[in-house]
Amino acid sequence: MKSAPVPPALRYHSRKGALARRLLARRGAVLARLPAQARDDLALVHETRSRTALLMADTAALHLVACARAASVLDGAMAEAGVLMGGSARLIAAAKGATPLHLFDVFETLQGRDASGTALGAHFGGVHGTLAAVENLLSPFAGVSLHPGIFPHSAAGLEGLRFSFVHLDLDLPEGTRAALEFFHPRLVPGGILLGDDYADPAVRVTFEEFFAEKTETLIALPWSQGMIVKR
Ligand SMILES: C[S@@+](CC[C@H](N)C(=O)[O-])C[C@H]1O[C@@H](n2cnc3c(N)ncnc32)[C@H](O)[C@@H]1O
Repeated sequence: MKSAPVPPALRYHSRKGALARRLLARRGAVLARLPAQARDDLALVHETRSRTALLMADTAALHLVACARAASVLDGAMAEAGVLMGGSARLIAAAKGATPLHLFDVFETLQGRDASGTALGAHFGGVHGTLAAVENLLSPFAGVSLHPGIFPHSAAGLEGLRFSFVHLDLDLPEGTRAALEFFHPRLVPGGILLGDDYADPAVRVTFEEFFAEKTETLIALPWSQGMIVKR
């Protein structure tokens, strides 16, 4: 006898795929059915991976795109600190609409002239993006400004900006702390701050210490991102 068709709303919860879900869950992975918008976003993520390095899992990349799109209706610019070869910046650029996007990274200008430069050199070594390559990657998108140099020095002169969305991906706690201090007071109400490497204990503690004194709720996402929505 033919079994009755499963209604679309219940399809994900059907027994079909249950074994695959259980097997993946044992390995710490999830199987999720994506709606149409997220499928388009996943195609953008994969297209971006084919053009440049993107140092985040697909889940985190999808979340990044969703946040940038949600914030694109707010006043204020967007920013990313920690660009490397421009992978995550390209995702933000594709989702931001007409909003200006400010990108901060040392790029190839890294020099060990001061303590922060030495720490960066020790952590990243020869791994860096080049300004020209990132400019070229992002050239189809309007309103993108690159600020090469060590953050927060590279943000000098931009103190008057306000931000609707900020992505922090600096890897190191010192830079992350400096970026939280710069961006948090400049987020508009409802603005989103999303941090990568949240599973890294040093980065996580930096966020927790910073937000211990703040009114926002810190959300630890299951794919190694932490985020807040500005009050
Ligand atoms: C993990 S990578 C960014 C990856 C990128 N967001 C992606 O997903 O493709 C971190 C970048 O942050 C940069 N960085 C770290 N600390 C910095 C600082 N204080 N100032 C400027 N750039 C910094 C490094 O040079 C490196 O390119």
